Amino acid sequence: MTLQQSFVALKPDAIQRGLTADIIHRFELKGLKLVALKMVKVDEALASQHYAEHIGKDFYPSLVNFITSGPVIAMVWEGRDAIAVCRRVIGNTDPEKAEPGTIRFDFGQAPQRNIIHGCDSPESAVREIALYFKPEEILSGWNRDIDKWIVPGGL
Ligand code: RTP
Ligand code: MG
Repeated sequence: MTLQQSFVALKPDAIQRGLTADIIHRFELKGLKLVALKMVKVDEALASQHYAEHIGKDFYPSLVNFITSGPVIAMVWEGRDAIAVCRRVIGNTDPEKAEPGTIRFDFGQAPQRNIIHGCDSPESAVREIALYFKPEEILSGWNRDIDKWIVPGGL
């Protein structure tokens, strides 16, 4: 068990469609702890840093066009194995391949309208959190009464 922080971002389609609260609730229901959140207008420079690994791929121009098309909600969720847990809550990149009950199956329409981003490794978590947040914007020190029901041995 590793305590991790995961970077997650609601893409412009989630916000335009009024899905913000439902999606944030999925992470709360899973027991993850919200430690940072902000609404951001992603510009091309930030998009190219965020999606640097995809520069040059055929879908890259439409990905940048999409992620810069409206507000994004950037978040950091903390918990046990949070990076893998968030990816499982989010589901497959392609909503048609995502499992029922995942965010992308339940709300997504296509790979380019897949509602949400989640970092995919401890390295990308550190890199992406630093792209969107200053260290003082991460409030990881707050305690929740419910943690004794979530963390094994917490009673
Ligand atoms: P994300 O980074 O957004 O969380 O998505 P992911 O890890 O599941 O997928 P990734 O391979 O990192 O791709 C980033 C985003 O690019 C778009 N994409 N389109 N073949 C395609 O049309 C295609 N492949 C990827 C998706 O919006 C994907 O979320
Ligand atoms: Mg990715």
